Formats: sequence, C-alpha cells, structure tokens
Amino acid sequence: MMQSDEIRSKFLKFFEKRGHKIIPSASLVPLNDPTTLFTGSGMQPMIPYLLGQPHPLGKRIADSQKSFRAVDIDEVGDNRHTTFFEMLGNWSLGDYFKKEQIEWMFEFLIEEIGIDPKKLYITAFIGDEKNNIPKDTEAGEIWKKLFSKKEIEAKEVEIGSEENGYKVGMQGGRIFYYDVKKNWWSRAGIPDNMPSGEPGGPDSEMFYEFANVEHDTKFGEFCHPNCDCGKFLEIGNNVFMEYLKNQDGTFSKLPQQNIDFGGGLERLAMAVNNCPDIIETNHRSILDYLEKLSGKVYGKDKADTKAFRIIADHLRAAVFLIADGVSPSNTDKGYFVRRLLRRAIFNWDQLGIQGENLSELVDSALDTYKNVYPDTCDKKESIKNEIIKEENKFRETLDRGLKEFEKGIDPFILFTTYGFPIELTLELAKEKGREIDIEDFNKKLKAHVILSQTSSAGMFKGGLANHNEKTIKLHTAHHLLLAGLQAVVDKNIKQRGSNITEERLRMDFLCDHKLTDEEKNKVEDWVNDKIKLGLDVVRKEMPLKEAEKIGAEMEFGAKYPEVVSVYFISPSASLQDDAVSIEFCGGPHVENTIELNSVRDPEGNPRDIGPFKIQKEEAVASGIRRIKAVLL
Ligand code: ALA
Repeated sequence: MMQSDEIRSKFLKFFEKRGHKIIPSASLVPLNDPTTLFTGSGMQPMIPYLLGQPHPLGKRIADSQKSFRAVDIDEVGDNRHTTFFEMLGNWSLGDYFKKEQIEWMFEFLIEEIGIDPKKLYITAFIGDEKNNIPKDTEAGEIWKKLFSKKEIEAKEVEIGSEENGYKVGMQGGRIFYYDVKKNWWSRAGIPDNMPSGEPGGPDSEMFYEFANVEHDTKFGEFCHPNCDCGKFLEIGNNVFMEYLKNQDGTFSKLPQQNIDFGGGLERLAMAVNNCPDIIETNHRSILDYLEKLSGKVYGKDKADTKAFRIIADHLRAAVFLIADGVSPSNTDKGYFVRRLLRRAIFNWDQLGIQGENLSELVDSALDTYKNVYPDTCDKKESIKNEIIKEENKFRETLDRGLKEFEKGIDPFILFTTYGFPIELTLELAKEKGREIDIEDFNKKLKAHVILSQTSSAGMFKGGLANHNEKTIKLHTAHHLLLAGLQAVVDKNIKQRGSNITEERLRMDFLCDHKLTDEEKNKVEDWVNDKIKLGLDVVRKEMPLKEAEKIGAEMEFGAKYPEVVSVYFISPSASLQDDAVSIEFCGGPHVENTIELNSVRDPEGNPRDIGPFKIQKEEAVASGIRRIKAVLL
C-alpha cells in the first residue's frame, strides 16, 4: 500500500525536478483575506501572484496545503468527503501553460504513482457563450494524444450540465465537456458570480474510476464522471487561470497565463490503492483505536461506519484548527471547531464508547503527520487540553438537555438553547416511546437558519463595522453599557441605535436628561465590575413571544421575525434568572466578559482599574442622548 506520505513527497520531488520551489503549508486561518474564514485550497494564498505581483521565489511554486472546507460538513460520513484534507498544488505564475501541465500530470499519475490509465477519466470546459469564453478543445487534444500513447482511444463527449449527464451517461467517452458549474474555477464560482477584479479560468479535472463500485440510480439514471454515486472520484483539478472579470462585467485575458493545480492528497491515495474509502485508506490508526474502544468493527454496520468516519474527520479537523490558533467558541471561526467537536462527541456516544475521552484520540490523529507537521505535533498537549475543556462543557450541556428532555420540552428549543442534537432527541424518544414532530422541528430550523443569515448580514451593514476581535469585544461592552444605564440611571432607558467600530462603540438611547459626572462614573464602575466578574455570554434562539415575555431588550421601533436570537450575559447556567443583560441580537460576542479585560498585570491577574471608559455623552435630538465609549 502506498501511503499518503509517500505520494506527497513524490509529488513535491517531481515538481522540484521541474524547476519548482517548494513552499511550506500556509495556516488554516488566512492572512489578509477577508473573503473567507478558512484556507480551503492551495491557491488562496497565491491570489496576488496570479494577478501579477512577482513571487519572491520565482514563477514555479509547489506545495502541500492544509485545507478546511466547512461546506462539506454534512457530506462527511460517505466514502470520500472530509472537511479537513491536504491539497497538493503546483503553480505557473505566467510561465508554462496547458501543454506542460497536462503532460506532467499524466506522467505523475501514471509513471510516478502507478495509476492505471484505463481508470483515468477527464473533464474539460464546454465554453460560455454568454461571457464569450470558448470551448477548451486545446486541453482535450493534449489529453487525447497522451492517452493514444498508452493505446487508449480517448473519445470526446459533450455533456453540458451535470443534470444532462444523468440522462446521457458515458457514451463510451474518456474526455467529457461540462459547463461553467463543473469546469470553471474561481474563488467565487461561476463567471456570473465573480466580483470585478477576480481571476478565474476554465479547468480540466481528472477522475479515477472504481471498477468495483456499482452505479447507484438514486443519483440519476446513468453514471458519468460528475455523478455523486461514488463510482468516480475527482482526484485533481488543473485550472488554466488566464481570465479577469472587469468592472463592466465582461472578461478579459490576464496579463499572464497561470496554472493553478490542486489535488486532494487523501483522494490520490484512494486511487493509487484502488480503495474507495477515504478514511480507511488514510487513517487506519484512528479506526483501529476506535475499534478497540468501542468493540465494534469498522465497515460492518452502516450507521456505525458513518459514526467512525465522522469522528475521524472532525477530530482531525479540530486538532489542526486548534493548532492554528482557533479555540472552540460561539463566534465565527471558533464556532466551527465547537461544532466539529460536539458532532464528534455525539458520534462517540453513538458507538457506545464509555469511560473514555475524545481527547485520547489526538495521538492517533497526529500519528501520520509526525514528519510533515512537527509544529502541530509539538502542540499536542495544549490541543488535548482544549478538547477536554470543550468535552466537559458539552457533557454539562447534554446533562442539562437530558433533564429538559424529561420535562417534555420542544426539541427545537432543546437544540437551540441546550445545543442538544436532534439525532439524540430522536434516539431518546424512540427509547421512551415518545413521538417527535420532526416536520415541526425542520420548519423551525429553516426559520432559524434564515434568521442567522439575515442577522449576520444585517449586522455587517448596521451595527458592527466588521467582525474583528476588538469590534466584537466592544459589541459585548455595548450590551453591558445598556444594562448599566438601566441599572444606574433609569430602568426605562431604551436603545435607539448603535454603531460599533474597532476603535469605539456608539449608542443612542432615549433619556430625558444629560448624564451627570457621578452617573457616568457609576455606569463605568458597573460595567467594569461585570467585566471582572467573568460572566458568560450565551446565545439562545427562541420564539419572539417567549423573548418578549422574559423582557429581552429590543431596539426601539425595530421589527423582528418569529424566531429570534437572544444574548444573555449571566453568571450561571440558569441564564435568565441571574442575567445582568438580555438582548435581542444576532451577535457575534465574546464568550465571557473577562475577555474584555485583556490587559493583565505581570502576574497575569486582571488589572485593578477597568478597561471600560465613557469618552463622550451628548444630545443628538430631543430626548435622545449619545454615548461614545472605549475599551482601553
Ligand atoms: N484551486 C483549484 C481547486 O481548488 C485547483 O480546485
């Protein structure tokens, strides 16, 4: 069996011999790229060079890049999807183009790593009339010649859309032409969706055929390379990046012709070993350990197999994200780590593992990476600690949720408020012979997803200038300020508007008088007190009516949907009874108020004087006051 370690080093050597400089993997957290939360392909860090900025190491670059794709999270559990993977990449930055790239790729796959050319299928771009981009017959010709040298007649077939593929099938073809949805690559997807200034281009993908896998008609009548049944596996993508979207929406050629190749390392290993299971091929050590702990055999039962795969993928993804500085939390990046770990723990329980912790799996997860990512392996202990902390938190959540389940609470509230997975609710309900209205749950979930989308989109435009750490801290301080004004000045004070940048917060509120210096000092002290108490900031989703009933603060005059998101700032888990602040809000916030007090004395204790300071208090209209405040 050829391991992924060997494939990675063969790939890098192959391109090094052909004049490429090998660069180390960039962090999973992209630097200076506001378009995306995580590094999801090797080309992301290359954008400035594809646009023409000279790369310090020259025009030929290759690497193996750690990548994380959150969009694939629900696909994990099948034979080939993972959220975390390594992408092998090579780039020509205005140097060689199609001919060299395709010839080298063919040579690498066939001669270097021993893939049978008869199992190899190719796709290319059919053209986009609307945007005046021609069919890529050139790529097709180059591939055809290479196949003919192996005595394989490579018939070309026009497919167009994926949907059409299911109708027309393979037709004895080897090279298949698809539309913009399948054979065009840019960070933003199809040409129509690209913003101006974005580079992109037609691509040519390589697929491996698993002869033993039968087509599943659940996916469509006939199989074709882009069919999702698992018979064909995409193992690499050659992007011919030579276009730029202009301001007026048209396309022109970039000043230089680039190659951007990306190939999933773990998928290449599947093809090389002719094994249609990505976890089995690449992470046998994790599976072995899980088999030992659970007493179950991987591959025997369908549901168990899915659980094995989810644990293996999610744990690895969480390990690498934590190593790159993302801790589990409720705010954007951290939320993904939290979700990954919680799903892994849930599946851990599904396998019936008892008396062991998920963190024990970290050693097996890093086992295969000792030589490639020594820095990550060095952080093993602190990664384990983060996982243990999150596991404990989630177990408490589960315990609390279990009690609420016994009380017969709405599964949707269980899910949003207690983080109690619906799968678990269904499982418990089955045991206890209780009926769960899954349609009602799905309906509410849909409303909830729309709400989180609109609330985050809304926040970008309105209240928060951005989602930087400093801005998020000031956002939480904003909630404390409103509560402080009500506690110190007048319990009837209502918010009228807010505007938060990373420098300062600004709040407009209804109040009939100018604040005295004494009032301002007291409000500052009140807020600083709460910061030092280290109160939890917790998000819950609930029906609008319920939120109104518990007196959550809402912006005066604003309209809210049927299900709302509410933030509690509270010293204890019982939330609303002890909360110092309850507000309608889409987030994001810090997890604990102590994070606002980031300056510490040399012993590491929070400093004596609080960081929260009111800078200005003034009138903006009759009966409306405005405060500007900062965190020092
Ligand atoms: N950037 C290309 C991809 O991710 C290679 O598919």
